[in-house]
Amino acid sequence: MDGCHVANVTVIGAQWGDEGKGKIVDWLASRADAVVRFQGGHNAGHTLVVGDTTYKLSLLPSGIVTGTLSIIGNGVVLDPWALKAEIEKLEGQGVTISDDNFAIADNCPLILPLHRDLDGLRETAAGSGKIGTTGRGIGPAYEDKVGRRAIRVCDLAHLDALEPQLDRLCAHHDALRAGFDQPPVDREALLDELREIAPFVLQYAQPVWKRLKKVRKAGARVLFEGAQGVLLDVDHGTYPFVTSSNTVSGAAAAGSGLGPGSTGFVLGIVKAYTTRVGSGPFPTELNDEVGQRLGENGHEFGTVTGRKRRCGWFDAVLVRQSCAISGVTGIALTKLDVLDGFEKVKICTGYRLNGKIMDYFPSHAADQAAVEPIYEEMDGWQETTAGARSWADLPAQAIKYVQRVQELIETPVALISTSPEREDTILVRDPFVD
Ligand code: GDP
Ligand code: IMO
Ligand code: MG
Repeated sequence: MDGCHVANVTVIGAQWGDEGKGKIVDWLASRADAVVRFQGGHNAGHTLVVGDTTYKLSLLPSGIVTGTLSIIGNGVVLDPWALKAEIEKLEGQGVTISDDNFAIADNCPLILPLHRDLDGLRETAAGSGKIGTTGRGIGPAYEDKVGRRAIRVCDLAHLDALEPQLDRLCAHHDALRAGFDQPPVDREALLDELREIAPFVLQYAQPVWKRLKKVRKAGARVLFEGAQGVLLDVDHGTYPFVTSSNTVSGAAAAGSGLGPGSTGFVLGIVKAYTTRVGSGPFPTELNDEVGQRLGENGHEFGTVTGRKRRCGWFDAVLVRQSCAISGVTGIALTKLDVLDGFEKVKICTGYRLNGKIMDYFPSHAADQAAVEPIYEEMDGWQETTAGARSWADLPAQAIKYVQRVQELIETPVALISTSPEREDTILVRDPFVD
């Protein structure tokens, strides 16, 4: 706690992203006073289903749909043009977005067209060794932030003084582009584009740490919305097949400007099976009709890129590790309904590597690719869990599955989600009442 005695909640993905974070954040948002994105960018794709309406958010915090104060923290990399397009799309769906309910940290680094260029050029050059990025320029933008060459939101108010910064940025990018046989950055065109978009972004820009301080002083609850998942974390994930930010709960404080005690209840979002989009190791991946069926039942196509997600059984070793690394207080188990009708379901409880049994996921990429899952098999359930809103609505065998999951990951279940719809959620333990 940060001395304010009201619990905050930090939502993070505990696998490779797409666990259903958006749905859960939306469900919790009506009881929060602010929803804050603290890392990532528009590589995220969060789907919210409210009645007949589906909202797809990439950059905007999922609290925007309930009208909750929504904040983009400094840890996010912001593409101003993607932001404008998304705001216009949401407004077209009847969502109100103004400086009353939306703010952007003025120290956010920008994603520029040159970042997207570089992301694409590198991926193409890498051929079969590519990361499988979302192509949004996320990695290059974070590199420039850490390399102290980024253009930030606050710079948009000082574009006439941008020359020295542009010199540094372009010196770096022109050299890289030359290596790919690309022309240098068109500085004038870039400046023109920035001049055009600046007023739109600046209307929301402010020191959000200050706004959050005020909110906390008033005793308000903050809901931090993570993007991606722990296994895509740049330190703890399946490096180098990761995104370029820290996705763990610890990033919430640094990425928003609140202290480390402010993360509160850490809610790990966990899919009842496993998916991954993009390249990289995936021990329980199923390249058979079972994997196919999981993908079909779960509609596993990327929100951002439309790519087919790779599917496999639940991996308890990975999730136990994610929960430990991220200090997860409790999990939301999502998409339980996707397992409906399977005769048998399997859970990975350990790995075999070079004749040894492992109870954790090793760090080295070659070892990560070589581990073989050890499975425990359980009877499935033939009844439907879809739309269940209480424990009593769940078949006995589904309850056994949930209980086995929480035992193996050594972390209790706080919520269960049984359909894309906001209200199809079982509350086991309220994260806001820690
Ligand atoms: P996020 O990136 O973690 O927010 O997840 P995505 O929105 O990318 O992917 C999750 C998908 O599963 C979305 O299409 C959701 O509408 C859907 N979804 C979320 N929870 C459930 C659930 O409990 N059951 C089913 N069947 N679908 C769900
Ligand atoms: P949400 O928030 C799933 C993956 C990409 C790629 C790797 C690096 O919807 O869960 P990047 O563009 O970030 O440099 O790509 O990370 N990736 C995601 N996978 N869900 C996401 O976000 C992702 N964001 C990035 O597929 O493998
Ligand atoms: Mg997603």
